[in-house]
Amino acid sequence: MKINKICCIGAGYVGGPTMAVIAKMNPNIQVTIVDINQERIDAWNDDDVSKLPVYEPGLPEIVKETRGKNLHFSTEIDKAIDEAEMVFISVNTPTKTYGKGKGMAADLKYVELCARNIADVAKTDKIVVEKSTLPVRTAHAIKSILDNIGGEVKFDILSNPEFLAEGTAIQDLLKPDRVLIGGESKEAIEALASIYGSWVPQDQILRTNVWSSELSKLTANAFLAQRISSINAISELCEHTEANVSEVARAIGMDSRIGPKFLNASIGFGGSCFQKDILNLVYIARSYGLNEVADYWEQVIILNDHQKRRFSDKLITTLYNTVSGKKIAMLGWAFKKDTNDTRESAAIYVADHLLSEQASIAVYDPKVPKAKVYADLNYLNTRLEKENEELVEVFNNPYEAIKDAHAIAIMTEWDEFKSYDWNKIYNLMKKPAFIFDGRRLLDKNSIEKIGFKYFTIGQ
Ligand code: NAD
Ligand code: UGA
Repeated sequence: MKINKICCIGAGYVGGPTMAVIAKMNPNIQVTIVDINQERIDAWNDDDVSKLPVYEPGLPEIVKETRGKNLHFSTEIDKAIDEAEMVFISVNTPTKTYGKGKGMAADLKYVELCARNIADVAKTDKIVVEKSTLPVRTAHAIKSILDNIGGEVKFDILSNPEFLAEGTAIQDLLKPDRVLIGGESKEAIEALASIYGSWVPQDQILRTNVWSSELSKLTANAFLAQRISSINAISELCEHTEANVSEVARAIGMDSRIGPKFLNASIGFGGSCFQKDILNLVYIARSYGLNEVADYWEQVIILNDHQKRRFSDKLITTLYNTVSGKKIAMLGWAFKKDTNDTRESAAIYVADHLLSEQASIAVYDPKVPKAKVYADLNYLNTRLEKENEELVEVFNNPYEAIKDAHAIAIMTEWDEFKSYDWNKIYNLMKKPAFIFDGRRLLDKNSIEKIGFKYFTIGQ
């Protein structure tokens, strides 16, 4: 089956970059990304590609090359579905904030709306691809909706989870470790495999059953997050034993069975997916009565929450047990470098804790806009919006954020922080000048030589 037109529902951090790369690598396929959010679509269509809604190195160049040729961004959802032979669902699947499974299960309402939309509109057979991360057995629900509403139209459902990481999305998409396709219909699987086959070697395109594919995505994220919680747990032990977590990570990482990647101790993992996907896995395990399995994975989240909390506790106790009225400069707000995404960023929770202790917070992040910082804090609902506005200031210049601060907290590992004039910064700050490095970014010896009191994770 030859695919000429693709529609992708959801123009977010996954839909945008993934479809841009598919369009670049398949110039003969017309790809239309649709979204209900007009503002987001307008930003994707902005002539100035530095204003795309997703900041991702390498993405502007690809959008510039393909947009208007075979890559289109639109809010005309029905039209794009109608015309396409293959429809990707790439909408958000956040943790439920209400009802059964609140705080644990994935909220599938957006995915269901997409399925209903496709079923209502489709007049010709469609391959429907789950690109969103979904609980195992969701394809069953999607198929049921499509078959019950879609009349005579034949729908094939594929699971094709995405493994890109933000900040490296384009490289991850261009050179994926593997592409995973789960499905029943061989013809549908091969139609999708041939699209990836334009640039991914066939032996790296795995074909599985739908349920293995859905569960592999949750499992991959759980294993990755587990590594971070494991090294973070060891980081706390290092702080009590004069061991150095970087040395431990290096020593264990050289064991080829363990491997060196993803062993950076930190302030705790953030991002839109690790927490939500593990909570979802825990929820699914409990729903099958598998309590030991659920407890095992839940501990990854418990440790991560502990890591964020103990960072802010350490800051408070070191500043003579009070931060009330003190200015704390936070460098970085994004959940990792090279992205403007702040979802579940550790910075939000550390700031919230410090604000509850009446600190005033000065934020600088190279890519996160001011309004986002306030929106993230207001979403927690810990205090009035007015109070957040009074206590938090967001700066466009790091030196202004740091001026007269009692302490700096490094929250994101942006490269530019390393090359700041730390002598100048020392002179700008109140004394003693404290640095709490949540990313192990700075060199302890040279920073202490300047005169800073320096605290980092795992040392
Ligand atoms: P996102 O919030 O950035 O984008 C989702 C988009 O879908 C939004 O723009 C929203 O307006 C749109 N949308 C929601 N309902 C819609 C509807 N009914 N019709 C049209 N548009 C609709 O989310 P994301 O980060 O791109 O994540 C999407 C999915 O991919 C999630 O399931 C996530 O778990 C998974 N995932 C994300 C990443 C990542 O790095 N962000 C990586 C792998 C997988
Ligand atoms: C992660 C996975 O890496 C992707 O494979 C997956 O597709 C994606 O989730 C998803 O499903 O959404 P992402 O969250 O974008 O990607 O970024 P990561 O590089 O995994 O970082 C996640 C968090 O862990 C960040 O806060 C990062 O700073 C932290 N981290 C990462 C550490 O603290 N230590 C490390 O060694 C690695």
